[in-house]
Amino acid sequence: MDGVVFISGPVHPVTFQLLEEAGLRTKKWKEDRRPSQEEVIENCQEACALISLVRDKLDAFFFKSCPQLRAISNYAVGFENIDLSEANRRRIPIGYTPEVLSNSTAELTIALLLACSRNILSANQAIRRGEWTHFDPMKHLGTDLSGKTLGIFGMGRIGSLVAKKARLGFDMEIIYNSRNRNEEVEDRLGAAYVSWEDLLESSDFLSAHCPITERTAGIFNKQTFQRMKSTAFFINAARGGIHVEEDLIQALNQREIAGSGLDVTNPEPMRSDNPLLSMSNVVVTPHIGSATMETRKKMGEICAHNIIQGLSGKPMIHTINP
Ligand code: DGY
Repeated sequence: MDGVVFISGPVHPVTFQLLEEAGLRTKKWKEDRRPSQEEVIENCQEACALISLVRDKLDAFFFKSCPQLRAISNYAVGFENIDLSEANRRRIPIGYTPEVLSNSTAELTIALLLACSRNILSANQAIRRGEWTHFDPMKHLGTDLSGKTLGIFGMGRIGSLVAKKARLGFDMEIIYNSRNRNEEVEDRLGAAYVSWEDLLESSDFLSAHCPITERTAGIFNKQTFQRMKSTAFFINAARGGIHVEEDLIQALNQREIAGSGLDVTNPEPMRSDNPLLSMSNVVVTPHIGSATMETRKKMGEICAHNIIQGLSGKPMIHTINP
């Protein structure tokens, strides 16, 4: 196999190793910043394949500018950055990396749940300010997860793993609303399918695990936060665009909800002077849901195999093309 694969950002070294073992040459984006679309296009000119990140916009203009690309794999499960109909029209196979990152993302979600429920951030900040002067049994009081209701919006691969960990590990009651019913979580975990309104009104913790689509963009907004319990926490480890940030800030300021754990923001990256960062009841992490060594390695393996298969005219390991 011959040809150059452009890799538009930092990925696990196994990705390069596998591509090179297959005889491909690799070219990587070396700068510690996001390349512009122009730069990705320029770097793709000598390439027959691309490994892209969700930050890269692969729209009709991109495909028109890189007609020689024969295979693309996104180093992600999400693919809202890719104009799929244009890729299909040009018969370019598009790979992605589902499944391998579900567990890491679900674990990060549980970390956000616990950080919110037990005031981990504010308690840690208090120590740093020198405020741990004596044991005070009435300080930093949080709330148990056990017995509380976890509402899950989007019961797919990641949502159902969060449900499992929360039910079996923390004894939470699970309710959910999703595009499709998930009988497995209903049977195995006793999860109850509820209406969107019920989900908002009954959840003690409401965690979003849906892709961003026309239907879900901005679905968590002023009206929806107002319907939530004032003691509830909003968790988002899916996509920042599904909540309206100024409405979330307002809901937190007006104490319409108790707090929030966010691994994704809108826009990304979040500026360091964002008001959410000065709220002690808000925990923000920089889109690290799938960021474990094990998962990044598996994502690299899948991307490399996707490209090798795609260039050989064989089905990719995981593809989003129909
Ligand atoms: C994904 O895999 O979609 C993650 O959000 C990282 O981009």
